[in-house]
Amino acid sequence: MDKKKVLLSRIFPEVGIELLRSAGFSVTAWTEDRPMTQEELIERARHHDALFCTMTDQIDGKFLRECPRLKIISQFAVGYDNIDIQEATRLGIPVGYTPDVLSEATADVAFGLLIATSRKMFHLHKNIISGEWSYFRPTAHLGIELKNKTLGIYGLGRIGIEMAKRCKGAYAMKILYHNRKPNPAAEADLDARFVDFDTLLRESDVVSVHCSLTEATRGIFNKEAFSRMKPTSIFINTARGLVHNETDLTGALQAGVIWGAGLDVTNPEPMKPDNPLLQMENVSVLPHIGSATVETRNKMTVLAVSNIIEFFKNGNVPHVVNPEALSR
Ligand code: DGY
Repeated sequence: MDKKKVLLSRIFPEVGIELLRSAGFSVTAWTEDRPMTQEELIERARHHDALFCTMTDQIDGKFLRECPRLKIISQFAVGYDNIDIQEATRLGIPVGYTPDVLSEATADVAFGLLIATSRKMFHLHKNIISGEWSYFRPTAHLGIELKNKTLGIYGLGRIGIEMAKRCKGAYAMKILYHNRKPNPAAEADLDARFVDFDTLLRESDVVSVHCSLTEATRGIFNKEAFSRMKPTSIFINTARGLVHNETDLTGALQAGVIWGAGLDVTNPEPMKPDNPLLQMENVSVLPHIGSATVETRNKMTVLAVSNIIEFFKNGNVPHVVNPEALSR
């Protein structure tokens, strides 16, 4: 029997190629340190049975229709807003993804950004580099404390729960959350309270975004939303940059409508080096590194690869976004 052909759209951890090859697949690995252009991606993917891709790849309807040989798409990420799931399902293509394994690493980044922002760490680090550390000043460089404050989680899924655990454990923070529907198990574990969006904005000292990017969440943190937050509040986003309106966020920070922001995701990505957010004292920005630890990226690779292997072995995709596609 012919070997099934798998295309890897980026340079992924080595363990992925090893597992696929030892399971009998023929692997084509893109070796440049950049995403392929859409033409390059289509040109290669159309000759493969499986695509191992990530959020920088645009898997839209046109792509899917131009690659009729593809039987499965395996995404190296928990988010899959770059993939037209409806069209993949219509075409009977299952889409695998990598939930759970990156929750703790991503929550660590959200928590780290919160502490860094509340104490202006990124800004003060830059000050030292530019020779601005003169002497100890009793009333300068003051941050704000987090103890006993209120954390508002927007999207209390696996990552949001990990963020809540960290904030509760370290600072006894009170937890509010807003979701499409309540999560009774998380409420019991974290003593969290389900509130409407308006209450979340008004009562939280920290608002941390952990939702998926959908039509309902796109741009939801806009001027209007920031205007309902406390002037002492901190906004954290480690989910997707398009959930906040970056112009509105910048305006809210400049006008003192909110106090600070910590972002692991921006809009657009990459953020331009002259973005005014990078000059602000109370802003910390990272280049989308939520899941970027050796351990987590290896686990994501193993999960994404096993979605492909299991599919061709027994028709099952252990972590699938659209199970309906499997019954076709
Ligand atoms: C995800 O998994 O969706 C992250 O944004 C990338 O690790």
